[in-house]
Amino acid sequence: MKILVMHGPSLNLLGTREPEVYGTRTLEQINQLLVAYGEERGADIATYQTNHEGSIIDGIHAAVEQGFAAIVLNPGAYTHTSMAIADAIRAVKIPVVEVHLSNLFARGPERSKSVTATAARGIVSGFGHESYLLGIDAALRLATPARTPRKRGAQNPSRRRAAKKPSSALARRPRS
Ligand code: DQA
Repeated sequence: MKILVMHGPSLNLLGTREPEVYGTRTLEQINQLLVAYGEERGADIATYQTNHEGSIIDGIHAAVEQGFAAIVLNPGAYTHTSMAIADAIRAVKIPVVEVHLSNLFARGPERSKSVTATAARGIVSGFGHESYLLGIDAALRLATPARTPRKRGAQNPSRRRAAKKPSSALARRPRS
């Protein structure tokens, strides 16, 4: 299964950008972790970073054509403003999981609102780079078709058919 992880504006500067908020790992280090995490779970993780709103939108559209089963998206500051990204998320059928390194809800009123999360399937926020790992877990669960549990005591149809048919030995048994 292919999963696309998209990083928005200024996340290319992770490692040196406000390390007290976003940690000291660089984006490249985080991406390597994500790829390894996916491999352990049989998922093919592709990563992409852009500082441009339109490129995030193009990336969401293209993900469907490129056969990605789900998207894990950190829209960066566009989270709080971008109706256009929210619309792009709504426009595609594959699940989009929003992730944030920091806890948006502990960072004041202007960051407590996510416009993009209104369209995403859910949000993981506040676990540092592990938010991405949890986002991948959620994406895998959402993109894997659920198996319908069989009702208790119900037989599968082929077995039921087999049970009705008399065995050839029984059928051939001479009558006494
Ligand atoms: C962020 C939170 C946003 O408010 C901020 O603009 C970012 C990073 C996060 O991952 O915590 O760029 O999305």
